[in-house]
Amino acid sequence: MASRVGVIGCGNISPIYLKNLGAFAGTEVWALADQDRTRAESRASEFNVPHVLEVDQLLAAPEVDIVLNLTIPNAHYEIAKRALEAGKHVYNEKPLAIAWDEGQELVRLATKKGLRIGCAPDTVLGAGIQTCRELIDDGVIGDPVAVQAFMMCRGHESWHPDPAFYYQKGGGPMFDMGPYYLTALINLLGPVRRVTGSARATFPRRLITSQPKHGQEIEVEVPTHLSTVLDFANGAIGQITTSFDVVAHSMSHIEVYGSEGSLRVPDPNGFGGPVFVRRMSGQDWEEVAVVRPYAENSRGLGVLDMALSAEALHNHRANGDVALHVLEIMHAAHWASEQGRHIELTTSPARPSPMPNHEL
Ligand SMILES: NC(=O)c1ccc[n+]([C@@H]2O[C@H](COP(=O)([O-])OP(=O)(O)OC[C@H]3O[C@@H](n4cnc5c(N)ncnc54)[C@H](O)[C@@H]3O)[C@@H](O)[C@H]2O)c1
Repeated sequence: MASRVGVIGCGNISPIYLKNLGAFAGTEVWALADQDRTRAESRASEFNVPHVLEVDQLLAAPEVDIVLNLTIPNAHYEIAKRALEAGKHVYNEKPLAIAWDEGQELVRLATKKGLRIGCAPDTVLGAGIQTCRELIDDGVIGDPVAVQAFMMCRGHESWHPDPAFYYQKGGGPMFDMGPYYLTALINLLGPVRRVTGSARATFPRRLITSQPKHGQEIEVEVPTHLSTVLDFANGAIGQITTSFDVVAHSMSHIEVYGSEGSLRVPDPNGFGGPVFVRRMSGQDWEEVAVVRPYAENSRGLGVLDMALSAEALHNHRANGDVALHVLEIMHAAHWASEQGRHIELTTSPARPSPMPNHEL
């Protein structure tokens, strides 16, 4: 029987989840809730969801197996905690939580209750990153030596209608986009052992040039350019730059360098390719066909995987241990710069298993 999902938070990202979870055979969206009830009602009519409830009612409904938490990052901890306390499996949008101790508490609580906790991103389960993983696991580039990752832009105040949160506690480029890159790296190379790096806030104020807040200024509370070094448990050395301070660049999203070749990994904020490999024996980069399932926008795939694993009792891939590790790395990137040292990590999740080469 399909797992019944109750969704809390019916904003911008919700339509793609509602579309996909309604279409997968293993999931069905049973109810929606939002603190703004009109949003839940309009999404329910758009996607034929049978029930619109208050948050408390949804958490108490015995019909709901999984709570999908699509609220804003500030509310992730509270909603997830209440869902677990109500005996529901829970899947959060990223990040798992903002505060490090709150993330730890959620994973502990899920374990104590024997419930599943999952977290976005699930883009890493898509065809692009899974193709890269297969190439690494098959030894096509030899032993991984190093990885470089870049997420750099000039911030979101030129297009986002309400961009202040990007520059407040819990914001910044690492917390905003780090989860996509770090989760991809963990799936490709396994866990990180220690972190160091430097961070700065280049502009103390940001001028909003989008509507409707055009002309207003934002006080910047967090670093907006971080250059972070990651020592992986397998010995590979990584470097990731996350920035809201860069006008333009010509770097790849992610490149993995191995003893026998190099791999150019697609945008981890998407599900598809392109994937390129440069073999030591080759003359140039070769494009590798991305022929695995889930190359299109499959947000919700991590929820499906969790629903199926809750039945079969194998560990789901977009799981709380990985999300907690990502949260620790993101904090460590800031702590390392503040304290001028390497931060040894306390979490070390198992590398998630590869996706099968067929639909779940
Ligand atoms: N928008 C995107 O493109 C995008 C992409 C990837 C991930 N995300 C992530 O998805 C999450 C949601 O982003 P969004 O863009 O949909 O935000 P949004 O502001 O458009 O929607 C969030 C919704 O949650 C509701 N909400 C907030 N707190 C609540 C609470 N305590 N109880 C009940 N409802 C509450 C709000 O009323 C709103 O409708 C964030 O974690 C974000 O990082 C967004």
